[in-house]
Amino acid sequence: MKRVDDFRLRFGKNEYVPIMIGGMGVDISTSELALEAARLGGIGHISDAMVEDVSDRRFDTGFVKEKTKLYKHNINNMDKALVQFDLANLAEAQRLHIGKTMEAKKGPGLIFVNCMEKLTMNGPRETLRTRLNAALDAGVDGITLSAGLHFGSFALMADHPRFREAKLGIIVSSVRALQIFLRKNAKLDRLPDYIIVEGPLAGGHLGFGMDWADFDLMTITKELLDYLKAENLDIPLIAAGGIFTGSDAVRFLEAGAAGVQVATRFTVAKECGLPDKVKQEYFKASEEDIIVNGVSPTGYPMRMLKNTPAIGAGIRPGCESYGYLLDSTGNCAYINSYNREVAATGSDKNLVIMDKTCLCTHMRNFNCWTCGHYTYRLKDTTHKKANGEYQLLTAEHIFKDYQFSTDNQIALPEKEAE
Ligand SMILES: Cc1cc2nc3c(=O)[nH]c(=O)nc-3n(C[C@H](O)[C@H](O)[C@H](O)COP(=O)(O)O)c2cc1C
Repeated sequence: MKRVDDFRLRFGKNEYVPIMIGGMGVDISTSELALEAARLGGIGHISDAMVEDVSDRRFDTGFVKEKTKLYKHNINNMDKALVQFDLANLAEAQRLHIGKTMEAKKGPGLIFVNCMEKLTMNGPRETLRTRLNAALDAGVDGITLSAGLHFGSFALMADHPRFREAKLGIIVSSVRALQIFLRKNAKLDRLPDYIIVEGPLAGGHLGFGMDWADFDLMTITKELLDYLKAENLDIPLIAAGGIFTGSDAVRFLEAGAAGVQVATRFTVAKECGLPDKVKQEYFKASEEDIIVNGVSPTGYPMRMLKNTPAIGAGIRPGCESYGYLLDSTGNCAYINSYNREVAATGSDKNLVIMDKTCLCTHMRNFNCWTCGHYTYRLKDTTHKKANGEYQLLTAEHIFKDYQFSTDNQIALPEKEAE
């Protein structure tokens, strides 16, 4: 019986354990978590979601304070068009977050950064250009383009000296999305180095509509493998979404995937950025507690725990401090919902807004508990303590369980003294 360790992910002459830990914003997939994946010979992701805030918390910079001060006068104005990111600050935050992570890297693996296109930041092109180029400046091993179509993203980095050296990949959920990406980038003569196919059971935003349950990762993986073969494209395909055990991973590797990207199992790792209290919520969840809804202002369905505090919380939009989801006209779907409720109730106090949520503020405060479909199985991966809480795991334990387990087994960690 095969195990994940019988396979290797190849980039050119280099070989890696074919396990990627997926990017989880905002700082849920921390540097510490990504560094463990790299140390163990796999690939870890950090995320550049809300990177100025991440930098402030980690490196004591003052980017958010500075932006808030600059736009304080606009807080009660629902027109956010003037709330712009300072691109020099954005680049500095990105270079700090990524550069410090790269400096700390040990071992044979790689560190990638997950860059979501849907973070339109009231200036989609220029903010994305800044983020991508600063990531390359900071020496990141690779960039995973996610959450969005990224038609122009390669072009935004094409003049960077590392454009052909860094590993660049794209997340898609269908053959069609890949076809369009390749067509739009054909003239750059630079193919992606890897493709992640993300199915409907993943955490975070989904690349499907509310009919997500009609789709299946293995089917889409095979369609993509057939397409790559037919087009003579030798690009590693990495399967993601609902791969919960080493044996699940082996099924994809045997089907022809070059690797797997996993995330949910690591949300309860000590190195994961979620507060410990939230990790216990993930452990406690039952299958009925995991829902897919439309509260994200991005327009993509998002999976989360039903008791997520962000659902219904009618707070004032926090765009002067954050504003990562403002579109090119300075609007966000949450602002529309907020305005509608203020008009309907005649007050901005104690609002309950169910259709959209202020995602930046809630993600920043770890109040939007996005999760993968199989979160309800996390309780089976550890010990329950006498006080009713679950024992956290180390990233190393989870990584090695994926790497070496067989027979759908999940190895429990050594029991900690209570
Ligand atoms: C808590 C959480 C947050 C996530 N955030 C992001 C994100 O910010 N960007 C992204 O591209 N994918 C995100 N994902 C998706 C993962 O990177 C990964 O592809 C997927 O969840 C893998 O499936 P699994 O969780 O079933 O292992 C997130 C997943 C989880 C569980």
